[in-house]
Amino acid sequence: MEGREDWVDVGSLDEIRAAGLKPVTARGTALAVSCRGGAIGAVSNACNHVGGPLGEGRLEGDYVVCPWHQWKFHRVTGAGEPGFEDDRVPAFPAKIADGRVLVDVAHLTKRSKAPHPPHPLAREIVRAPGPLRLAGISTTAMDRANPRFSGSDHLLGHALKEAESLGAQTRTIALDELKFRNCEGFYSKSARACTWPCSITQMDSADEMERVYEALVHWADAVIVATPIRWGAASSLYFKMAERLNCVQNAVTIKDRVLIRNKVAGFIVVGGQDNIQSVAGQMLGFFAELGFLFPQFPYVAHSRGWSHEDMERNVEIVRDSEELAEGARMLAKRCLDLAGRLVVADPATVIERGGRKAHSVMPTAKSYGAD
Ligand code: FES
Repeated sequence: MEGREDWVDVGSLDEIRAAGLKPVTARGTALAVSCRGGAIGAVSNACNHVGGPLGEGRLEGDYVVCPWHQWKFHRVTGAGEPGFEDDRVPAFPAKIADGRVLVDVAHLTKRSKAPHPPHPLAREIVRAPGPLRLAGISTTAMDRANPRFSGSDHLLGHALKEAESLGAQTRTIALDELKFRNCEGFYSKSARACTWPCSITQMDSADEMERVYEALVHWADAVIVATPIRWGAASSLYFKMAERLNCVQNAVTIKDRVLIRNKVAGFIVVGGQDNIQSVAGQMLGFFAELGFLFPQFPYVAHSRGWSHEDMERNVEIVRDSEELAEGARMLAKRCLDLAGRLVVADPATVIERGGRKAHSVMPTAKSYGAD
């Protein structure tokens, strides 16, 4: 070993053996220290992926599993799991003396990051030339093998047809035809653990939420989201999608990266009973935080009312209402009119963060011009 050794006491053997894996800081260096079968290992605490705290993960054999997205590194050598050995985190010499665990923080191996091809969604967001593009998202849950009439889908159909007659391209995404996982709360581990593209999308190629991300972030100029009302709220599939869209909003929070620019959103809300303003209000609030803009009167809606339990009648009203159909068509037109103006003007501006989500108003060193 070249150079002076610098052994630092990081805790008692008993304590580290009992923990199995433990994050410690030794002379300012964050380490993941482990003990298995009496043998000590010490590697950097920072994961190669996006810096997850390895010492807060778990041991799987001789591998430390990162608590954020489950990348694995050998607890003694720092090498990535078999097949990814070139992805290594720094490893440190470690030893036991008089029941204490010592780590030489002066002699670490080099960190090396094997190139990981970026996910296709991570590409630069550039609007491809061509006609305006409207994505319609159905959040209705139903048995597609035995379909029933859905008022919100019905009106979405009118909106999309109108968009086509106005010369726009359209794409319909029915969430209940997609196989996609629930958001697993990466954000709840750390804002930085919630990544763009979504951590699940990057890890699970079978997850079909990618189609929604592709449409909203890269393809569409405008989107219309249609939902039924379920006990005064939007449908469960709407919320399943919204939770997975957290990564789009979180890119603004952690990287000041606004993925949705100059895009328009509108909504269709149809229910048997009321609460339209609350459902629409929540959708508007969320889509605003994603970065969408809204046309004048950004939603159309219908409900039958509190004192009726005759949903057969409601089906009839929605299916036969020329007024509602026209309302949906005009919503599509309003969305496309605004989208068309935004595409031409492309008003990409710097958006000040003061008062916006996750913006600290406490003075920082940076705001005082210090390094
Ligand atoms: S797997 Fe470690 S930060 Fe993602």
